[in-house]
Amino acid sequence: MSSTATASAHANIALIKYWGNRDADLRLPVSGSISMNLGDLNTRTRVTFDSTLGGDTLTLNGQPQGGPGLERVRLLLERVRTLGGIEHFASVVSENNFPMGAGIASSAAAFAALSVAASAAAGLDLPERDLSRLARTGSGSACRSVPAGFVEWHPGTGHEDSYAVSIAPPDHWDLADCIAVVSAEHKATGSTQGHALASTSPLQQARVDAAPQRLEKCRAAIQQRVFAALAEVVELDSNLMHAVMMTSTPPLLYWHPPTIAIMHAVQRWRGQGIPACYTIDAGPNVHVLTEQSYAAEVERRLRKIQGVKDVLVAVPGGPARILP
Ligand code: DP6
Repeated sequence: MSSTATASAHANIALIKYWGNRDADLRLPVSGSISMNLGDLNTRTRVTFDSTLGGDTLTLNGQPQGGPGLERVRLLLERVRTLGGIEHFASVVSENNFPMGAGIASSAAAFAALSVAASAAAGLDLPERDLSRLARTGSGSACRSVPAGFVEWHPGTGHEDSYAVSIAPPDHWDLADCIAVVSAEHKATGSTQGHALASTSPLQQARVDAAPQRLEKCRAAIQQRVFAALAEVVELDSNLMHAVMMTSTPPLLYWHPPTIAIMHAVQRWRGQGIPACYTIDAGPNVHVLTEQSYAAEVERRLRKIQGVKDVLVAVPGGPARILP
């Protein structure tokens, strides 16, 4: 006996960052965050609960997976089995359309697609907020890949009220994310370990205390489509997160020389009247946000900077969804 479902979800880029948990097991964050789904970067995942399987299996881009990657997927499947009253193991087959080696975080899209596919395969018809909560337990940022477009994750007080909601649909604002790939290396310290170090930085409390003001500014900039206001708060928030990373024990320094060259260039371009701002996650690659009408020019300029290996361009994307 088997039941199967396939779902797809987009990666997302945080405009206001998630960095640090109140509860690491449930991934309850110390503050809220806001992101934009990246419509051109997808994960597609098929989940099949099958009575003949002797254990859960995971295949990622054609490669069978074990170890911590499989264990993280298994924990999420356990939650779904409990919710759906299912006893069978599952096979999970997942593919990304973006290069794995490009250093683009895939956990958000992966756990969003997994949550939607697994719950459908289990015969559950969960509302969006429950899918977002479920995805959060697999990877915090994945809760933001469930709703459409521009998304805010409310930190909540516990598992029940910590989930993400759409604050504007994808077509609300013609933005583009030009992702400058600087290094394709696997990062030494992943986000999960990084979140656990955040509280060791003397700067983290100040970053968290002022997060509500930054969230408010970012939300308003999106709602009113004011690029200059968005640029200011997005760069501030990214710099604050990296200041915390650099001052943690042990310190985390994700920037490479081209990362800094791009930061300078983007600020220079903005001075020349090009709407562009940078934001950087837990790695050396730089996301340069711009308006779609400037995306080709920003991409052209990024490609000329020494050390930029590739540029991926994505526009605001829709929600995680079941595929027929
Ligand atoms: C820097 O969601 O990848 O990208 O919950 O451990 O999977 P886990 O962490 P993850 O952390 C994302 C960190 C970030 C900022 C962000 O996306 O908000």
